[in-house]
Amino acid sequence: MRRKLAAGNWKMNGTSAALEELATLAQAHPAPGCDILICPPSTLLHRAADTVAASAVAVGGQDCHAKTSGAHTGDISADMLRDAGATSVIVGHSERRTDHGESDAQVQAKAEAAIAAGLIAIVCVGESLEQREAGETLDLIRAQLAGSVPQSSKAETLVVAYEPVWAIGTGKVPTIEQIAEVHDFMRTELAQHLGEDTAAGVRLLYGGSVKASNAAEIFAVTNVDGALVGGASLKAADFSPIVSALEKA
Ligand code: 13P
Repeated sequence: MRRKLAAGNWKMNGTSAALEELATLAQAHPAPGCDILICPPSTLLHRAADTVAASAVAVGGQDCHAKTSGAHTGDISADMLRDAGATSVIVGHSERRTDHGESDAQVQAKAEAAIAAGLIAIVCVGESLEQREAGETLDLIRAQLAGSVPQSSKAETLVVAYEPVWAIGTGKVPTIEQIAEVHDFMRTELAQHLGEDTAAGVRLLYGGSVKASNAAEIFAVTNVDGALVGGASLKAADFSPIVSALEKA
């Protein structure tokens, strides 16, 4: 059985005051029926971990370097995230792939570093609107999975998030059929790389304009094991109903 996961990605949002949202979220879900993860900016990570220490909410990073230490100004290693209290780290988010030109190989190296540091790697994949319209979605997802997912992944150390680039922060959401098609495809592809048993245990998240109003419908899709939520994860009042919808799914 895959335990469902409601993950929030705060991106480059949040200063000290945002820790209150985390505390409110934790209080609202003392014994949740799913895993809850918030990935704040790294400046808040340590305090965020302290804020949720006695709760069921976990915290994670939004990116890590592939190396454990060294002369890489401005970068953060997976070990450092772990030390700050992270249980997980997002790698290969489309904003990293676009803003920082990260390749599949770099994402794979980061995911390997994350797993080696004892973190869960949340590997993101997803097509652009151009690729979707050109009918290239599944080919792209196949290539991204093949290039970004470490061969050594175990079901407990890997999460894959399908985030169509055109659905991120736009209010546009793929149809339920499109979400189902990609998630089914990802499960099958992962079985090729990791074997049936591992692939059957990997949690697959949908991300892109998830809100309280569309969450239940998305969570009802086979092979959707939760969500990676951006904007609607910033406020406990917005994220909490999404967590509740997942608990009921
Ligand atoms: P939004 O939920 O704001 O569309 O962002 C999704 C996302 O990119 C999460 O990583």
